[in-house]
Amino acid sequence: MDKFRIIGGLPLKGRVSISGAKISALPCMAAAVLTPETVTLHNLPYVRDIITQRRLLEDIGATVLTPELRTHKIAAAHIELFEAPYELVKTMRASVLALGPLLARFGKAKVSLPGGCAIGTRPIDLHLAGFEKLGAEVRLEAGNVVARAPKDGRLRGGEVHFGKVTVTGTENLMMAATLAWGRTTLYNAAREPEIADLAELLNKMGARVRGAGSSTIQIEGVAALGGAEHTIIPDRIETGTFIIAGAITRGELEIKDCRPEHSAALIAKLRDAGVELQELNPSTLSVVGNLKLTASDVTTEPHPGFPTDMQAQYMALMTQAGGQSTIIETVFENRFMHTSELQRMGARIHSDGSRATVQGVTKLTGAPVIASDLRASASLVLAGLVAEGETIIDRVYHIDRGYEKIEAKLRAVGANIERIRESVTAPLSQTAEPAAIV
Ligand code: EPZ
Repeated sequence: MDKFRIIGGLPLKGRVSISGAKISALPCMAAAVLTPETVTLHNLPYVRDIITQRRLLEDIGATVLTPELRTHKIAAAHIELFEAPYELVKTMRASVLALGPLLARFGKAKVSLPGGCAIGTRPIDLHLAGFEKLGAEVRLEAGNVVARAPKDGRLRGGEVHFGKVTVTGTENLMMAATLAWGRTTLYNAAREPEIADLAELLNKMGARVRGAGSSTIQIEGVAALGGAEHTIIPDRIETGTFIIAGAITRGELEIKDCRPEHSAALIAKLRDAGVELQELNPSTLSVVGNLKLTASDVTTEPHPGFPTDMQAQYMALMTQAGGQSTIIETVFENRFMHTSELQRMGARIHSDGSRATVQGVTKLTGAPVIASDLRASASLVLAGLVAEGETIIDRVYHIDRGYEKIEAKLRAVGANIERIRESVTAPLSQTAEPAAIV
């Protein structure tokens, strides 16, 4: 398994460009299954999860052309398989996003039930209860979810009240409802920017979705959807990760091709902690890391609250802030796996259940550490950038799932980071890098 070697202590300086959002690209790719016509998606991030989603689409019978690295032309004209197998789902939970489109267009779907993961049990009960509200019959069979629409093969519009805000649950039901009879209303829906991005694509395909981005979404079902062309929004979590990279190294970064408005809660919190952040224009931020960072408590929440996907990176920053900060994780029940690895680097953190307290300023020292999940690995990279000496991060395949060439982007702004390859012959599906764009 590839590793990163980082020599810390260098302030980052320069410009970095943000890639497309993985957590918008995945549902937008799944949405192509709703129509036999071609859906063209631009600004796709070149990361492992996109490759897995492409494989899923090709396995069920879609064709995916790549006129250029970050553009896919997806045509689901001849779907022969209505299932997402365990082999794929176990590598990427987001494969469950195939359920809604397959069920809506073909009246049947079989998707392996995703197990838990490092950050929590992550059930999909709210997805399944929602499909039942739209008239589907849903049962579990040998580890698979098997869903069927009523006899005429078409779902029925209905009212879905989510007991808890769920991002992929909202996306699955929104896609399923586009081809149902009549109107569907989703209550307590997720409000993440990626939901509005998916709705924009669906409406370009001829759907009638209103209210995406708010907690109540209405969808008028239509008989069929057509093709469309769409550019994926920038990745707000990658943006946040680079803001913290600039701040924690006391550097100066210009972050381009981002969308500051999608990170309002994070930006406000970082300003509270003393990070100098300026919006140069609607797609560019500048960050200047000050010597004096101040501890500031945070609680993660669904959007527009502080994103759980930035919690680990924020914890790394708080090790360099004066005073004690309390971090409360409310979205996932087991999202402090990075704490023990940061402690190995000398961080003073105490965690108990969903609450962690961080004592700063602490001098971190390089050490061998292990990444446990996507965002935990990002926090270890950030800690390694400020630590004295050498940090070796193992299992960086986690970070490859959601960050495009993070080590090349960091090196281009002055970081001393390199990838230690498992073996020179391994292809990208394991490690390789696309042509340089920084
Ligand atoms: C999405 O996961 C993102 N993944 C996650 O990003 C992100 O952390 C999460 O939303 C929250 O923002 C993708 O979009 C592919 P949820 P999702 O359903 O949709 C519980 C990353 O780092 N729940 O909003 O799976 C669940 O257990 C990843 O990029 C149920 O109980 O998250 C959790 O506690 C990690 N039943 C909470 O709701 C359900 O049916 C929120 O989960 C569904 C969810």
